[in-house]
Amino acid sequence: MTPLLSLDAVHKRFPLGEKPGLLARAFGANKPQSMLHAVENVSFDLHPGESIGLVGESGCGKSTLVRLVTRLLDTSEGRILFNERHIGDVPAHDFARHAERARIQQVFQDPTDSLNPRFTAFDCIADPLRRLGATPLPEAKPMSAAAVKARVEEAADQVSLPRALLARYPHQLSGGQKLRVGIARGIALKPQLLILDEPTSALDVSVQAVILHLLAELRRELGLSYLFVSHDLNVVRLLCDRVMVMYLGKIVESGPVEAVFAAPKHPYTQALMAAVSKFDPDSGETRIRLTDDPQSPIDPDPHCCRFYSRCYKKQRACEQAMPERDGKSVHQVACFFPNRLDEAS
Ligand SMILES: Nc1ncnc2c1ncn2[C@@H]1O[C@H](COP(=O)(O)OP(=O)(O)O)[C@@H](O)[C@H]1O
Ligand SMILES: [Mg+2]
Repeated sequence: MTPLLSLDAVHKRFPLGEKPGLLARAFGANKPQSMLHAVENVSFDLHPGESIGLVGESGCGKSTLVRLVTRLLDTSEGRILFNERHIGDVPAHDFARHAERARIQQVFQDPTDSLNPRFTAFDCIADPLRRLGATPLPEAKPMSAAAVKARVEEAADQVSLPRALLARYPHQLSGGQKLRVGIARGIALKPQLLILDEPTSALDVSVQAVILHLLAELRRELGLSYLFVSHDLNVVRLLCDRVMVMYLGKIVESGPVEAVFAAPKHPYTQALMAAVSKFDPDSGETRIRLTDDPQSPIDPDPHCCRFYSRCYKKQRACEQAMPERDGKSVHQVACFFPNRLDEAS
């Protein structure tokens, strides 16, 4: 099956500080500019109808990776294919008018920040339709006001947002209702891929559960693919087929949700899972605690594992070469000494 979205060795580095000036370079003081490595050598395929969860702690590069896919940011290196088209080559500012733009939609982290406070719920949902919606080819004319209205109401129904709320402004809606507006906006154009960047992190736990249930149903009904970003492993387990664990810009483990949850291989994944599972002190299990601070993402040593400073299994090999995922197996791990938690010495 052809993947819907395919990333091949994608990197994103942010230059930091001032570029060294001409004089500094002329007099040999040309230290290369420092780079923050936010996304490092990321490759994966997302198939039609599939839901992939991307997990990792704050600052590991999840939102940057999302912005590369939605083309709000240009890659530093690597290829991004969507429906077999190279969208990574389209300059970010041109992508807004690109044919594939409407097929990739995003639901943002905090609906309070992402919804325009001067737009009613109706206008928030109608906005992408007015900008990118078109009648089917060959006419491909902008949608009529009546067609926009019909589609907004249909999208509101699909997310169970009462139509009576469409006239309200974001500040007149609850957190859960605002998120429903954000999701209706995301599905209004009938995209193939919906990217959800920590959609429920601003909500109470009880509202979160209702929204997660809605998202699971929508995916089934509309045949959508999800790239679901979360720092919460349990949420990913509930909603996703596959999971990718990210640490300091790298995917350190990936695989089917059941396989990764049953037997996490990377020491970082094991620590993440130990942190969410109920710990029984009489079970004889050793609780993994991450010690030390994460390494800096600025000019990292290309020959040292990113997890080295915090790893409880580290050996000399880990500071001499960067472990990579093998790219072939279903359950992949970027570690020289992967094994099950109960086999760990
Ligand atoms: N525009 C930017 N310029 C410089 N550094 C950035 C920029 N955007 C993000 N970063 C850095 O990239 C890293 C990853 O950030 P982000 O993708 O937001 O992480 P996450 O979403 O996982 O919390 C962080 O160290 C962050 O400070
Ligand atoms: Mg983020």
